[in-house]
Amino acid sequence: MVRAAVLHGVGEPVRIEEIELFPTGPGQVRVKVAASGVCHSDLSLADGTLDQAFPVVLGHEGSGTVVEVGEGVTHVAQGDPVLLIWAPPCGECWFCEHAEPHLCVKAMDAARVPYARLADGTEVLPGLGTATFAEETVVPAAGVVKLPRGAALAEAALLGCAVTTGTGAVWNTARVAAGSSTAVIGLGGVGLSAVQGARVADASVIIAVDPDPDKRKLALALGATDALEPAPDLGKRVRALTGGRGVDHAFECVGRAATIRTAWGLTRRGGMTTVVGVGGKDDKAEFSALELFHFARTLTGCVYGSTDPARDVPRLLEHVAAGRVDLGALVTARIGLDGVNDAFAAMREGRGARSLVVPASA
Ligand code: APR
Ligand code: ZN
Ligand code: ZN
Repeated sequence: MVRAAVLHGVGEPVRIEEIELFPTGPGQVRVKVAASGVCHSDLSLADGTLDQAFPVVLGHEGSGTVVEVGEGVTHVAQGDPVLLIWAPPCGECWFCEHAEPHLCVKAMDAARVPYARLADGTEVLPGLGTATFAEETVVPAAGVVKLPRGAALAEAALLGCAVTTGTGAVWNTARVAAGSSTAVIGLGGVGLSAVQGARVADASVIIAVDPDPDKRKLALALGATDALEPAPDLGKRVRALTGGRGVDHAFECVGRAATIRTAWGLTRRGGMTTVVGVGGKDDKAEFSALELFHFARTLTGCVYGSTDPARDVPRLLEHVAAGRVDLGALVTARIGLDGVNDAFAAMREGRGARSLVVPASA
């Protein structure tokens, strides 16, 4: 039995319960979780913004140590430090074969299959296939990437979602060129990672936007050149910083139609707006036929920073080791499993950047 933060229904608090993980099957890996970031997508799955069946153990931004490998697993062994990948590419589908592994048709397969049971025998689903709000989890082999032994294992958890998504949006999806002007809307773990990605890409202007002054301060420390409130004069202020044009690239890192419109409005004619946030299916953004023509902007979605984990995880680890990407600065709280409800509450109010759940601590 292992302790896990179990969610039984939309809007309920998670409860710490003992669950029994199913035996590690062929092609699976059992991992002792070192740490798990709390991502806004966990909150969106918990509050019904995104669809989720119950009961479930959420958590999809995790790192840990391999406890056991199933038959046929050779790329990791017991004792290896690993990063968990919530959308592991199968390597064989049309998207994987056409260099779009982040759109793999099988990436979400594990999330649909129960992986454990509660004390009363009820089967439990693994949130996004990873279920890292627990002491241990069982995941598909493709969902673990070996980490170097020297890396700070707990902080490396952030590479599982926020950092890969935020930097990947800049490097892979938008392909920001050196000297570009950028704006990042929403400075949670994802947005602050986009800011860092823009700095590494040598963007000349990085405008960080968030209502929370602490996060704007953090963004400036992480490389933003300007930090602004989402006030009514935001567009005017952004144009003043960009030769009257607007930014070459805007990144929406909130997950709402309203902030997609904001990001779009900050983008210059012919520029690109990248939607990194994940919003609800009924939250509609409107564009007039004329403005689509007139502004000639590109509006693109972005899944998991268009990442190919095999390529991007080693690249990110190099940036972290060289001090170009700061993981520690993103962590504003370290909590036990029993702190997940408080972390969700803080996130709802926009307080704090990343909360890091360390299951061994409580
Ligand atoms: N303008 C700018 N920022 C805003 C606004 C707004 N109108 N409203 C909220 N924000 C800020 C919040 O203050 C917060 O700092 O957006 C930030 C969102 O951060 P988190 O809640 O920590 O979310 P994060 O985990 O970073 O994820 C961002 O990416 O992966 C998706 O589902 C995820 O949609 C979510 C998005
Ligand atoms: Zn996430
Ligand atoms: Zn695939």
